[in-house]
Amino acid sequence: MIPIYSQKNRIKLIVVIIALIIGAATITYTNILVSKLSEREQELVQLYAKGLRYMINAPSDDNIVFIEEEILSSNTTVPVILTDENENILDSKNINIPENISNRPDKINSYLQGEIEKMKEQHEPIVVPWAEGSVNYVFYKDSELLSQLRYYPYVQLIVISCFALVAYFAFSYSRRAEQNRVWVGLAKETAHQLGTPLSSLMAWYEYIKSSPKFENEPILEELGKDVRRLEIITERFSNIGSVPTLRDENILQVTQNAINYLQNRISRKVAFTVESTFSPGITAKVNVSLFDWVIENICKNAVDAMEGRGSINIQLVLLGKSSVAVDITDTGKGIPKSKIDSVFLPGFTTKKRGWGLGLALAKRIIDNYHQGRLYVKWSEVGKGTTFRIVLNR
Ligand SMILES: Nc1ncnc2c1ncn2[C@@H]1O[C@H](COP(=O)(O)OP(=O)(O)OP(=O)(O)O)[C@@H](O)[C@H]1O
Ligand SMILES: [Mg+2]
Repeated sequence: MIPIYSQKNRIKLIVVIIALIIGAATITYTNILVSKLSEREQELVQLYAKGLRYMINAPSDDNIVFIEEEILSSNTTVPVILTDENENILDSKNINIPENISNRPDKINSYLQGEIEKMKEQHEPIVVPWAEGSVNYVFYKDSELLSQLRYYPYVQLIVISCFALVAYFAFSYSRRAEQNRVWVGLAKETAHQLGTPLSSLMAWYEYIKSSPKFENEPILEELGKDVRRLEIITERFSNIGSVPTLRDENILQVTQNAINYLQNRISRKVAFTVESTFSPGITAKVNVSLFDWVIENICKNAVDAMEGRGSINIQLVLLGKSSVAVDITDTGKGIPKSKIDSVFLPGFTTKKRGWGLGLALAKRIIDNYHQGRLYVKWSEVGKGTTFRIVLNR
């Protein structure tokens, strides 16, 4: 097995882990900043309260100007509200009053009351006792800077993840487009290259056939079969390399033909059965040459999985009005659950001589060229596997 997929998963895992570490580090670091800033703001408010207390209880006017100017005004960031013991507002600082109520004192008052409620949720008020026994309260809340800083890392991480997601999709889209070009280009080139010797081969074949010298020669029939086979291969590649035409075909007939053709070239120890649950006239939109290729790839895998001995059952089922399913069941070794998602990846193979292209190609043919679906419908290790092809009617 080519280990690119396990490697790719490891790389993905590492990228995710690094992203998580960066995210966690950002949040932790900002949280440290937030708690430091928060401590500072609390100290600032404590100082404010102390200054206030001193001013209220000062025996003389000596230092009042100093306290007023240097301490109380130095707080230009932390929103504070000073109230009496019944929470009647005496003063407020650093609170943004909305424009539309700035000249309505009654509204301002109720707005500030609302602020007090918010402040209570964040911090206990600081109590400033008066000499004669009554108290004032200093309510305060986080400055705008602090509350922005609290949310900043989350906003930042969301923006970065959105960006990463967009980049990821753009990148995988362009990679898919590139893969498409490689598939199509290679197929076209192959069909083109096969074309020239094939047409001359066909001409030679006709020439030999009509020559009396080779009359009744058994080689001739074999030669004819091989030429026909080459023709089919060329047709397949040329269909993959262009936009293939889909026609309404009798799906039972087409499947039966594909199986008959295969049966002749596969060990007699494999028994094929074709069954359908609907009337024989049902059609589906199919490109016969590509559909045959899909059946061939799936059945060859089935034969490999059964080591050349067992039975392959093909069942045609109607799925509602618009689609038909072709279920191909073998009695082979089955696919382990962990591998089911990988079997369609190009390069995934468990065989010594496999390229891991058979199912990747089959899936492309059904999904992209027929707008249908190909998937593993059932598989059990040691019992067998069912592949389901869904086609449009
Ligand atoms: N019917 C099946 N039963 C069990 N395993 C299967 C079956 N069909 C496919 N697989 C598994 O899926 C793998 C991929 O199949 P795929 O046809 O893409 O490649 P391959 O057969 O290994 O090589 P290639 O078809 O290119 O010669 C196989 O190697 C096999 O392990
Ligand atoms: Mg195969």
